[in-house]
Amino acid sequence: MAEVLIFGAGAVGAFYGSLIAKTGTPVSVVCRSNYSAVKANGFSVTSPQYGSFTWTPTRVFPSADAAKEAKVHWSYIVVTTKALPDVSDDSALLEGLVSPGTAIVLIQNGLGVEDPYYSRFPQASILSAVTIVSASQPSHGKIAHNRWTRINVGPYLPETHSSSQQVAISRTEEFTGLLVSGGVKDAEAYTHQKLQQVRWHKIAINASMNPSSVLSNGSTNATMSLDPDLAIHLKGVMEEVLTTAPKVLGAPFPKEFATSDRIIRSTQKNDSGSRPSMWGDWESGRPMELEVILGNPIRIARAKGYEMPRMQTLYALLKMAQTNRDKAKSKL
Ligand SMILES: NC(=O)c1ccc[n+]([C@@H]2O[C@H](COP(=O)([O-])OP(=O)(O)OC[C@H]3O[C@@H](n4cnc5c(N)ncnc54)[C@H](OP(=O)(O)O)[C@@H]3O)[C@@H](O)[C@H]2O)c1
Repeated sequence: MAEVLIFGAGAVGAFYGSLIAKTGTPVSVVCRSNYSAVKANGFSVTSPQYGSFTWTPTRVFPSADAAKEAKVHWSYIVVTTKALPDVSDDSALLEGLVSPGTAIVLIQNGLGVEDPYYSRFPQASILSAVTIVSASQPSHGKIAHNRWTRINVGPYLPETHSSSQQVAISRTEEFTGLLVSGGVKDAEAYTHQKLQQVRWHKIAINASMNPSSVLSNGSTNATMSLDPDLAIHLKGVMEEVLTTAPKVLGAPFPKEFATSDRIIRSTQKNDSGSRPSMWGDWESGRPMELEVILGNPIRIARAKGYEMPRMQTLYALLKMAQTNRDKAKSKL
C-alpha cells in the first residue's frame, strides 16, 4: 500500500493529508511548531464541506531527520511548506527520505518551486500541484477549511526527452486518484504544459492581490477590487502577467481561464473580508513568499527577453520593506 508523507503539515498539508487518509492510505506528517499539539491530539479539521472531524496521522515526526529514522519507503512525499527559497532550500531536507519509486508532490504557490527538487532528485517523479483553497491553522493542530478544494496536479517535465516521462504521468494520475477517492471532487490531472499555465495564471492573482494588500496596509481583496484606483492597478499587474505568460510558455492560455476583468468582478462580489495570506505573513513578521510569487516570474520572463515593470516595482518595494522590517525587529 502507498505510504504518504506530508512535509510541512500546516493548513494545506494537514487538510489534504486528512482527506487522503480517508481512503485508508497511511498518511504520516513532518511537523515543526505544531509538533507537540499534533503528537498529543492529532488534527481537528472543520470544514463547511466535510464537517468537523479529527485526524490522527499514522506517524507524527518533529523533523525530516526524525522521519528518516523510521526507514519507511515513501510512495509520495507531499511538500506543503511555504515556498521560501531565500530562507531555506527545503529540498535538502528530503535527502535520505527519497528512495527509488518515491514521487515528490509540491503543493505550493508560485513559479520555479519545482526546480530545486528536480535538480536534486533526478530519478524521482516530480509532481507540481496548484490549489485554490482557503484554509488556515488558527492554533496548533486546528485546521479551518473555509472554502474551495480545487487542486490541479501535473508532472513536472521541463525536458521533453526525459526518459521517465511516462512514470511521472502515471504517478500524477495515481495521486490525483487518491485525492478524488478521499472526497476532493475537483482534483484534476493536467499535462506539464497546462499545469504551468495554471501556475502562471495564479501568479496573475497572487502577484497583484498579495503585495497590494501589504502595501495598502491590509486591504481585503474585495476592498482593493472595489477601489477605482486600486482596481486599475490590479488589472495592470494581471494584464502584464497574462500577456507575458503565453510568450514565455509558447502557447495561449486555454479559453476557459478567467480574464483580468472576470477575476476583478468576481472578487468585487465576494466580499467575505478575506485578505491574502501574504498580509498575515507581513503582519506577524514572517517571511513572505516574495521570490516565488514575484522574483521568479520576473527572472523567468527576463531570461526570455520580456520585462514586467509593474511586477518589478512591487518586488523591489516589498523586498526592501521586508529587509527594513527584519532589521528593525533585530534591533529590539
Ligand atoms: N492556506 C491556503 O489557503 C493556501 C491556498 C493556496 C495555496 N497555498 C500555498 O500552500 C503552501 C502552504 O501554505 P500553508 O497555508 O499551508 O502554510 P502553513 O500553514 O504555514 O503551513 C506550512 C507548514 O510547514 C511547516 N514547516 C516549514 N518548514 C518546515 C520544516 N523545515 N520542517 C517541518 N515543518 C516545516 C510550518 O511549520 P511552522 O509553523 O513551524 O512554520 C507549517 O506548519 C504555500 O505555498 C501557500 O502559498 C495556501
